[in-house]
Amino acid sequence: MTTATARPDASPSPIVPPLAQRPEVAQAIDTVIRAADDTTKDLVGARPARDGGKETLHAWLERAKAVRARGGYYPYVGSGRGRGALVELLDGSVKWDLINGIGVHMFGHGDAGMMRASMQASMSDVVMQGNLQFNADSVAFAEVLCAEAARASRLKHCFVTNSGCMANEAALKVCQQKTDGAPRVLAFSDCFMGRSVAMSQIGDEPAYRQGVALNVLVDYIPFYNPEMGERSIEMSLWHLKECIRRWPGQHACFAFELIQGEGGFNTAPREFHVALMSACREAGIPVWDDEVQTFGRTSSMFAYEALDLGEYIDVVTIGKMSQACACLYTEAMNPKAGLLSGTFSASVTAFHTGLSALQRMRDGGYYGAEGRIARLHAAFRTHAEALVKRHPERFPPIRTAFGRESRQFVGGTGGMMRLTPFGGDKERIGRLLQNLFEDGVIAFICGHGPHHLRFLPPIGVMEPKDFEPVFEILEKSLAQTT
Ligand SMILES: Cc1ncc(COP(=O)(O)O)c(C=O)c1O
Repeated sequence: MTTATARPDASPSPIVPPLAQRPEVAQAIDTVIRAADDTTKDLVGARPARDGGKETLHAWLERAKAVRARGGYYPYVGSGRGRGALVELLDGSVKWDLINGIGVHMFGHGDAGMMRASMQASMSDVVMQGNLQFNADSVAFAEVLCAEAARASRLKHCFVTNSGCMANEAALKVCQQKTDGAPRVLAFSDCFMGRSVAMSQIGDEPAYRQGVALNVLVDYIPFYNPEMGERSIEMSLWHLKECIRRWPGQHACFAFELIQGEGGFNTAPREFHVALMSACREAGIPVWDDEVQTFGRTSSMFAYEALDLGEYIDVVTIGKMSQACACLYTEAMNPKAGLLSGTFSASVTAFHTGLSALQRMRDGGYYGAEGRIARLHAAFRTHAEALVKRHPERFPPIRTAFGRESRQFVGGTGGMMRLTPFGGDKERIGRLLQNLFEDGVIAFICGHGPHHLRFLPPIGVMEPKDFEPVFEILEKSLAQTT
C-alpha cells in the first residue's frame, strides 16, 4: 500500500492526496491507527451483550425497522468497533464475523491498512468521483484490475462503478450492443446477478422479481451436478444447444457464475465450463463471467484464471472485496461512446481502499495452491469434517434437487465455504443461524434447496487457528437447534 509516512522527501505520489502526504498529517494518521489498535485490544473472542446493552440495540433495531418498514435478518447494528474477524455490536456483544457484509470486508474489522487508505482518501478535495471528472486513484484502481486480468485473458479495458449490480448492467449492455440488441440471455439455474430490474429477472429466484414487469428473455441452463458427473456436462450442453437451435442469433450473452454464490457455493470442473463456453463461441454468443462474489476468493484473483478459462472470457464483472466495482472487457467488446457512464463512478474512499486491498491481495501470498486462502480453506474443511464425524445425527444425507442423496456435507472453494447440516432443510438451518448469531458467530444461508450454511470469512486477516473457537460455538449451537 502507498504510505507517505516513511520518506517525507519522496516525490509525491499521485495516488495519495497531497494533504495526506504532509509529514505532520501522515503522523496524525499513524496516531489514529495506533489509538484504534489500543482501543480494540479487548476484542479477543466472542462475548455476550453487556448489562443494559440489549435495550440500546433494541432501540436502534426499532428505528431501523421503522425507517425501512421491516426488520433485518439478524438483530445486528454494529458499534463501529471491530478487530480482525471480530465485530462488536451496539449491545456490547462481540461476534466472529464470517459473512463480512456478504464478502465485502476481506480484511475484517478495524484493519490498519484499510483505515489508513480511508483516512488518506478523506483528505481529497471531493468525496465522490465521476465519469466526467475523476482523480488519479480511479485510474490506478482500474489499471491494477486490467493488469491482473491481462495475465491470463484477453480482457483489456475496465469500466468502474459502484455496485456489483451496476457492473452487471454495464456487462449486459456491452453484450447486447455487440450482438446488435439480441434480446435473450442465457444463464445458469440458481444464479444470482443483483437486484436491478434486469438483473432481478435474470436471477433465478421468483421472490426477487415479484411485481416487476418482465421484459428480459432468459434461458436457464442447469449448473453442474457432481452426483451426475460427466452426464451433467452432457445434459447442460444439450440444453444449451437446444436453446441456440431454438433461438438462433437471439442471445446477447451467456452469464456464467463459475462458482455459484447465492445459488449454493456450487463448483464445477473446468471441462463443464469449457464445453459450454466453446458452444457459445461457435454460435457467436459472448461469454460474460459474473465474478462479483468469487472475485478475490479462489486460488487466483479471478476465478476464470483458477479454472484456466481466460481464453474464453469476453466480459467479466467484479465487486464486493474490491470496494469499488468494475466491468472489464476485451478490445473486441469495447462499446461505443455513450453506452457506459453515470454521475458517480464510486467514492474516493472506495477507490483508495479498493486499490489498497487489491495490492495487498496480489502481493501478500494469498493465491496459489499453497497460498493463504488455500490454507484457510483446508483448515475449514478439517474442522467441518471432524464436526460431521462427531455428530452424524445432525448430518443426515442431503436431498438434492434431482431427489438423489448426497453426502457432500462440506463444500465450496477458497474463501467460499459451506456446510450442510439437517439434510439442507431451510427452516432448521435458519434456526441454527439465529442460534449461532446469539452464541457469537455470524454466518448466512445459500442455495435454493438444498440449503447450506454459508461462510465468507475475512480471508485477508483470518488465521486457520481462528476456526477453533468458531467451531466450538458452532458445535454448541448445532446441539441446541431443533
Ligand atoms: C454473483 C453476483 N452478482 C451480482 C451481485 C450483485 O452485487 P451488488 O449486491 O453489489 O449489487 C451479487 C451480490 O451478491 C452476486 O453474488
